[in-house]
Amino acid sequence: MFILKFLGVTPQYDFLATLRNLIQPGITTKELDQIAEDLILKKGAVPAFKGYMGYPAALCTSVNEEVIHGVPGPRQLKPGDIVSLDLGVKLGGYYGDATITVPVGEVSKEAERLLRVTEMALYEGIKMARVGNRLYDISYAIQSLVESNGFSVVRDFVGHGIGKNLHEEPQIPNFGRPGHGPRLKEGMVLALEPMVNEGGWQVRILPDGWTVVTADGKLSAHFEHTIAVTDTDPEILSLPSSSGEGQKILRS
Ligand code: MF3
Ligand code: CO
Repeated sequence: MFILKFLGVTPQYDFLATLRNLIQPGITTKELDQIAEDLILKKGAVPAFKGYMGYPAALCTSVNEEVIHGVPGPRQLKPGDIVSLDLGVKLGGYYGDATITVPVGEVSKEAERLLRVTEMALYEGIKMARVGNRLYDISYAIQSLVESNGFSVVRDFVGHGIGKNLHEEPQIPNFGRPGHGPRLKEGMVLALEPMVNEGGWQVRILPDGWTVVTADGKLSAHFEHTIAVTDTDPEILSLPSSSGEGQKILRS
């Protein structure tokens, strides 16, 4: 259990909370990336995405119809936008990965609902991350919450195991058959990350080779935590372990 306790101090949700507070109309995605990288380096951690398969930044910033892997640049956020902030860090040889999607100023009721449903789907998935369950119990819990709210789950990208590498086995689709897939075992560390579209699930990749957008141009949201399967409740490693926030949500 040493590894789990160690990962419990991965600080990236603190980073995301800091970034969330800086979100306001006019800020550019590049400024957010620069701040994220400074925060990470100041903690003695390493930005996990920078240089990964040639990715040029520490943070992924995906705005509105952008699903994931939006590359930070001169784009200024404006009122009504939603922006996902996806951040990976490496500390003491172990990786952590987390994402939040944040409203910029006032957003539409539908955008608000999309954010709420996507975050709820993440927590429905986490609740299923228990010894005795199967991997696709997690997938199914996410999918059902999303689809019962009239949204769709992205199929071309999935969550993943994580540890000494950013991406490890198993792949974790956000859809699947309950009671199927590998058995969950104590000590598994997983990055669960529902990517939820307002419209259809189809996506395409922009010519920059990174940015994934919805095929129909409708909104998309993304929430992610790094979690551990334990002998009791799942532990959310990408939350500050002192906060108790995740455990409260899991019990509600
Ligand atoms: N959270 C994403 C993932 O799990 C981010 C990877 S972006 C990359 O794949 F730049 F590192 F590729
Ligand atoms: Co991830």
